[in-house]
Amino acid sequence: MKPLISFFSSSIGKKMVMGLTGLGLIGFIIAHLLGNLLIFCGPKALNTYAQSLKDLGGLLWVARAGLIGIFVLHIFSAISLSRANRAARPAKYKVKKSVVASVASKNMGVSGSFILLFVIGHLFHFTLGKIQPEFFNLVDPAGRFDVYKMVVHGFQEKIVTIPYVFALILLGAHLSHGISSFFQSLGINHPVYTPLIKKIGPILAIVITLGYLSIPVAVLSGILKV
Ligand code: HEM
Repeated sequence: MKPLISFFSSSIGKKMVMGLTGLGLIGFIIAHLLGNLLIFCGPKALNTYAQSLKDLGGLLWVARAGLIGIFVLHIFSAISLSRANRAARPAKYKVKKSVVASVASKNMGVSGSFILLFVIGHLFHFTLGKIQPEFFNLVDPAGRFDVYKMVVHGFQEKIVTIPYVFALILLGAHLSHGISSFFQSLGINHPVYTPLIKKIGPILAIVITLGYLSIPVAVLSGILKV
């Protein structure tokens, strides 16, 4: 147990935790996007999907607890690594080099902090119904929680949609760098896969961002309506 603790307290161990938890979060982000895109198949498809998640009952809570755990570990390892990096670099560089723009780079910290704020706001909005409560308790003709109407009504209000668009673009930037540096975080330097993942990172990030952005854009342009 002790060697395990000291490994995860080391800089290499923390980088590994950050890389692996990042992978878990990307898995959630892709799965959540695929679920959300069902909105384009109509209210029945999205509400049935949301209901099937709710029907998981206790299992859903296990998944939620796992997700929170992964999220917390990701944030803690990021903060801890960036502190360690700063401590090892007391004097400011005269020329800002991209070498420091790695896992704990300043931009990752800024975008990551905004994403955290976004996720908290998003939970208050769509999971707890505290932001637009008038759209939260809607029920569809089959008696299910009307997620479709909640999302469409929600994004019809620009004051809600603009922060979403801003956060989603920041998420894209965060993912682009995060995915590209995944192997670096794990300490893997493969002659083929490392350069490949560096190329794939930005592309995957753009696809994910455009996928998420398509929902508020479709609502504001009237493609999705109630
Ligand atoms: C257009 C963008 C998005 C839409 C329309 C959307 C929609 C939703 C909805 C409807 C829920 C509530 C599900 C329910 O309780 O039935 C939800 C929950 C959630 N969303 Fe999103 N989401 C979006 C973007 C994101 C992003 C970018 C993230 C993460 C970075 C995210 C993370 C979460 C989390 C963590 C939950 C809570 C899951 C749970 O309680 O089981 N969402 N989202």
